[in-house]
Amino acid sequence: MRTIQVKTPSKSYEIIVQWGGLNQIGGWIAKSLPPSRAALLTDENVWRIHGELVEASIRKAGFDLTVIVRPPGESQKCMTAVSEIYDSLVEGKLDRQSALIAFGGGVVGDLGGFVASTYLRGIPFIQVPTTLLAQVDSSVGGKVGVNHPLGKNLIGSFYQPESVLIDPAVLCSLPQADLISGLAEVIKYGVIRDPELWTYLVEHREKILSHLQEELEHIIAVSCQVKADVVSEDEKEGGLRMILNYGHTIGHALEATQGYGSYRHGEVVAIGMVAAAMLSEKMGLASRGLVEDHRRLIGAYGLPVGCKVKNPDQILSVMYNDKKALRGRLRFILASEIGKVDLTDEVTDKLVREILGELG
Ligand SMILES: NC(=O)c1ccc[n+]([C@@H]2O[C@H](COP(=O)([O-])OP(=O)(O)OC[C@H]3O[C@@H](n4cnc5c(N)ncnc54)[C@H](O)[C@@H]3O)[C@@H](O)[C@H]2O)c1
Ligand SMILES: [Zn+2]
Repeated sequence: MRTIQVKTPSKSYEIIVQWGGLNQIGGWIAKSLPPSRAALLTDENVWRIHGELVEASIRKAGFDLTVIVRPPGESQKCMTAVSEIYDSLVEGKLDRQSALIAFGGGVVGDLGGFVASTYLRGIPFIQVPTTLLAQVDSSVGGKVGVNHPLGKNLIGSFYQPESVLIDPAVLCSLPQADLISGLAEVIKYGVIRDPELWTYLVEHREKILSHLQEELEHIIAVSCQVKADVVSEDEKEGGLRMILNYGHTIGHALEATQGYGSYRHGEVVAIGMVAAAMLSEKMGLASRGLVEDHRRLIGAYGLPVGCKVKNPDQILSVMYNDKKALRGRLRFILASEIGKVDLTDEVTDKLVREILGELG
């Protein structure tokens, strides 16, 4: 078992990573909360595969459980779902001491966290993430929220959980493409802060892709540690937390312009990281070799290293409208070497067009 501490001004809590931990999930939850009423929020896929085990363990630990199963998918991150979940909580008579347990991928975590942060002005919240993306990214750091018809994640808050309980063994039922997509974020942590993680990813590719226990536990725990360190220093994205957006400036713009649904999130982040490395090299911030290193590792995990960019002007305009652009200037996180990144607003439109042209 590995434990990671997250210390933010609003709350300190633990992330526990343990292979097979779902069997004792009820006992884990009872450690951070005295047994009372609780709601288990999940989606149909996760419920079908892992629901019985989890429900039994939580009930055995003494919780009086209301189970809420939603359809899977991003469309659930909406106010209608929020409102229906409030209804279930009221009907289940959940009070201020009751907990909401989000058991699922990033969608369930973001949705459940938002509900927990607003129901009765906030009830205890536990994250039990079941996709690699949720285990290394969305469940850590306290960002919760839903989408608005005009944009992703426009409604939300910062709300830290009581604890995050991760069982890497659940990834064995995840489609391989989703595992690979989540690995893009793990690679990102290597670039932004942890050259040893990068080397580990180079050396243990086959074992990671075959879901071996030790290797999965290791990359998940190290990734959570990197994210926990960053959010512990900067809970609300005032500065350092921006480095978590490595690969995401161009990644998000590709996601929005190449047609939603044509790429997974990790795939556009992978392309975005290659693009960021190209910018670094062209601006003389990194020595030659950074782009090649990116292409080699990202490609080895079966992630795309480029794509034919259909409309560079549209990509630029999406980037200027991004909520992370500041006073009309594009902001990029760029690497000078593996493990070291910095924020810059000196990337010109001309250079962006140039590298977009070279990505195809
Ligand atoms: N809050 C944050 O800081 C943060 C960070 C990154 C991403 N996100 C959000 O995360 C969401 C994406 O998360 P996601 O990729 O986990 O998507 P998801 O929750 O939709 O899960 C992907 C699919 O995998 C299925 N699934 C989940 N666990 C499974 C398992 N163990 N076995 C089999 N199937 C399983 C789900 O039912 C779903 O169909 C987006 O809405 C994004 O905005 C939030
Ligand atoms: Zn991401």
